[in-house]
Amino acid sequence: MEFPSSTFLKSSSPSSINGQIIDSLCESNGVSKLKIPEVKFTKLFINGQFVDSVSGKTFGTRDPRTGDVVAEVAEGDKEDVDIAVKAAREAFDHGKWPRMSGFDRGRVILKFADLIEQHGEEIAMLESINSGKLVHLTKESDIQFATNCLRYFAGAADKIHGETLKCTGEFQAYTLKEPVGVVGHIIPWNFPTVLFAAKAAPTLATGCTMIFKPAEQSPLSILYLAYLAKEAGIPDGVINVITGYGPTAGAAISSHMDVDAVSFTGSTEVGKLVMGAAAASNLKTVSLELGGKCPLVIFNDVDINMAVQTAWQAVFFNKGEVCIAGSRIYVQEGIYDEFLKKVTDNVKDWVVGDPFDPQVHQGPQVDKEQFDKVLRYIESGKREGATLLTGGKAIGEKGYYIEPTIFTDVKEDMLIAQDEIFGPVMSIMKFKTIEEAIEKANNTKYGLAAGILTNDLNTANRVSRSIRAGGIWVNCYMITESGIPFGGYKMSGFGMDSGLQALEKYLKVKSVITPIYNSPWL
Ligand code: NAI
Ligand code: MG
Repeated sequence: MEFPSSTFLKSSSPSSINGQIIDSLCESNGVSKLKIPEVKFTKLFINGQFVDSVSGKTFGTRDPRTGDVVAEVAEGDKEDVDIAVKAAREAFDHGKWPRMSGFDRGRVILKFADLIEQHGEEIAMLESINSGKLVHLTKESDIQFATNCLRYFAGAADKIHGETLKCTGEFQAYTLKEPVGVVGHIIPWNFPTVLFAAKAAPTLATGCTMIFKPAEQSPLSILYLAYLAKEAGIPDGVINVITGYGPTAGAAISSHMDVDAVSFTGSTEVGKLVMGAAAASNLKTVSLELGGKCPLVIFNDVDINMAVQTAWQAVFFNKGEVCIAGSRIYVQEGIYDEFLKKVTDNVKDWVVGDPFDPQVHQGPQVDKEQFDKVLRYIESGKREGATLLTGGKAIGEKGYYIEPTIFTDVKEDMLIAQDEIFGPVMSIMKFKTIEEAIEKANNTKYGLAAGILTNDLNTANRVSRSIRAGGIWVNCYMITESGIPFGGYKMSGFGMDSGLQALEKYLKVKSVITPIYNSPWL
């Protein structure tokens, strides 16, 4: 079988030009010229103020289009976390936020959502120069998710309540749902604003206060969001942001004696450290949203073009830096050859290049570490005997661009079938029967999500119930909404982001029991 060669870098070669107008990329499409925003906020945000770190140290945050430093950002560590926790503690123990009515908290959260919407383009551009995300897609999709999420939980803020319980004898009982207290949020770089909102919105709704530790790769949009939070009227100390590294600032949060809960999104490896630190300190509540190696199972009976498009987006969206990427594609034998041909044909319409260009589909990987990691996995796939259908190489001299890469003849025990690559790499495998599909789909330590493409209702039902994962998409992929619970099985973690269930991570249940009339001991 012949496949097209991968000549698909259509945009001009990537060049970083902080502060300049990128006309060559945008004018041909009649799209308004995008000016890379000035980076306004680079300090820690504690108790409503932007402040330097106690040590005075800073670190360079880089643009993945070139690898160049775009801004020096305050490097917070344990001492700064201590100060931020004190501010959050004070705001929780004595401040007005937890004591306001849920309705009033909701109104402030709605204002915050409006401000994020108004500044969506600037936020999207900051994410692009930090994470290599596509500006237009981030604006349309990530910003919209974030604002919807805040609005969803704003509406929930005045609907948090306990239950009255049935008691035997002369007693009555009810439960209270109370905010857990000071929450530490440690987030990664692939969806900074989305994850900020997914964590901040339910935390704000419950009346908790919080400290965010953005990833060292992508602090800029989170600092901007902190500024907007203050503008919206969220009281000082309720949202604090400590920029810095994981083993210092992150670990100081997960091991802090005065942090009541920690909510982490990132690698399984660090998730274990966070849980260990919580156990070794004050047994704070832990929730973890970790990696994935999600299967997409494609049956013979589906429209082949729909299957190819779904698989393509499942793997290559956000350059594969997605915890729910459908990186294991299982195709039933009847359509296998045709699928290979069509999926490889797709390469010629896929543009890799500068994420500010609205014609581009795939920007650079986030940093050198991830770039090297993805290329190492591609080498391991070749070494272990998988067939490289297309791609496999870095693009250009500068920046972290990688060709969309497709492997076939992938065996279940190969690293590219087992490990989370977190890059634009598709592994395709063949199956015969539904039983084999279920067994292979479950052959992973992860359990975040899975996709099933079939027109047979019985097959869809059976496979949905047989895959051990927190989310299943039937005849679609990666559809997420604030109202739909999102979380993992197995080593993908536990606890729900999104859905009303997300509130539970930030609430404690208290039972109150009283005699109906007199004390029984009178
Ligand atoms: P990571 O798990 O090291 O980083 C995530 C966050 O945890 C960052 O804010 C980081 O500073 C913080 N962190 C790191 N070490 C810590 C520690 N000891 N204590 C507390 N916080 C700590 O992820 P990394 O190194 O950026 O990426 C490695 C791999 O992790 C990726 O290739 C991918 O496979 C996976 N990953 C999964 C994500 C997801 O969405 N589930 C997001 C990012 C990475
Ligand atoms: Mg790491």
